[in-house]
Amino acid sequence: MIRPFTFSDLDRILQIELQSFPKSPYDWATFINLHYLYPETFWVYVNPTLDRKEGQILGYIVFTKEGHIISIAVHPHHRRKGIGKALLERAMITPHLKKVWAEVRRSNQRAQAFYLHMGFQVTGVVPNYYGNEDALIVQWTSPPGSY
Ligand SMILES: CC(C)(COP(=O)(O)OP(=O)(O)OC[C@H]1O[C@@H](n2cnc3c(N)ncnc32)[C@H](O)[C@@H]1OP(=O)(O)O)[C@@H](O)C(=O)NCCC(=O)NCCS
Repeated sequence: MIRPFTFSDLDRILQIELQSFPKSPYDWATFINLHYLYPETFWVYVNPTLDRKEGQILGYIVFTKEGHIISIAVHPHHRRKGIGKALLERAMITPHLKKVWAEVRRSNQRAQAFYLHMGFQVTGVVPNYYGNEDALIVQWTSPPGSY
């Protein structure tokens, strides 16, 4: 199930964030800010059948209304089950969105494989986007006539 982010999700989102981006995790203030900036396009993936203590929130995505992915992450124990796909598709099915794009670390080959699997292409490079590492720009364009 995918539903909008709420403040009660924050602790669990921060856990996923720390495990997914150990070099540069967003902090709680950033997530609160993202919630205010993008209240309609900040989604969490929830499996309500799981134990509450273990955590029912398994991933999140936040993107702008123009289609820029600010962040996407899935809990490491729940990867390769289609959760990232379901979250990214939430962006790709947004009405009137002509393209969806993201920055990915050059070293993040798993995320690159994920985006390529989802029909994205590498369209550019931003040198030193992450300080000492380049970003690849990956982009998906909606098929003609679909918006
Ligand atoms: C990238 C990420 C969101 C993918 O989430 P996920 O739920 O594991 O992805 P899915 O299960 O939906 O994968 C869909 C397809 O993408 C490809 N893919 C996903 N992860 C992959 C990996 N580690 N290696 C190779 N291909 C991969 C596969 O083709 C996969 O299909 P398959 O499992 O049937 O082979 C997740 O790995 C993650 O949170 N990574 C850390 C945070 C991150 O790097 N975010 C992106 C920053 S821009």
